[in-house]
Amino acid sequence: VIFNDSTAASVLVAHEIAALIREKEKQNKPCVLGLATGSSPIKVYEELVRMHKEEGLSFANVVTFNLDEYFPMDKGNIQSYFYFMHEHLFNHIDILDENINIPNGLVSSEDLYQYCIDYEMKIKSYGGLDFQLLGIGRTGHIGFNEPGSHYNSGTRSITLDHITRVDAAPAFLGIENVPRKAITMGIGTVLGAKRIVLLGWGANKAAILKETIEGEITAEVPATYLQNHENTTFIIDEAAASEL
Ligand code: GLP
Repeated sequence: VIFNDSTAASVLVAHEIAALIREKEKQNKPCVLGLATGSSPIKVYEELVRMHKEEGLSFANVVTFNLDEYFPMDKGNIQSYFYFMHEHLFNHIDILDENINIPNGLVSSEDLYQYCIDYEMKIKSYGGLDFQLLGIGRTGHIGFNEPGSHYNSGTRSITLDHITRVDAAPAFLGIENVPRKAITMGIGTVLGAKRIVLLGWGANKAAILKETIEGEITAEVPATYLQNHENTTFIIDEAAASEL
């Protein structure tokens, strides 16, 4: 779906998430959300915070799983996704701390393998993700599933692509400070979500969105795996759609 205004589009996505939260609340069930970082979802989080403050939208029944985190990364670091999520969403809503799940960027190398398996199992223990919000990286990554990722991959550690590190360099004040690794949910984890919405804004996403939406399904562009998911919507603005 192509919008001429990313703000209006983000509001619409936030309203879909809010409707799902309320629906699950009525059923007395947890609402399990897969969340993304980056600039793309910021306005969605802004609208959810507004709805909490002005319309009483409660997140008491919401359980969240974030897609990814740099590795190694201290959660107190302002570049951490832990920091990002608290700054943009969690500090402003009534979600319970124990319902927030973000990969731990400081797990020890020895424990990393088991930690990732446990993260995956925890998502499964809730019956999977009800809704997954995504952005897209210029390599075609979703979460940090870089080119070469298997469609059936689960939560694991991954080596970041050079382009991804270049794009992250300004936030880290230089590429030499960008971690080389990350922990990410897998493609299989994401595709297990009942509903997926991918956001893409701006001309610098136009080329990768064309490949993702119109190209062949390939591990070289992991986001193309979304073509096989039956309930995925790409919500993009006109600049991002300019090469379609
Ligand atoms: C990072 C995140 C991705 C995100 C991507 C795009 O690499 N790990 O989940 O989709 O950045 O970021 P932005 O939305 O800022 O373009």
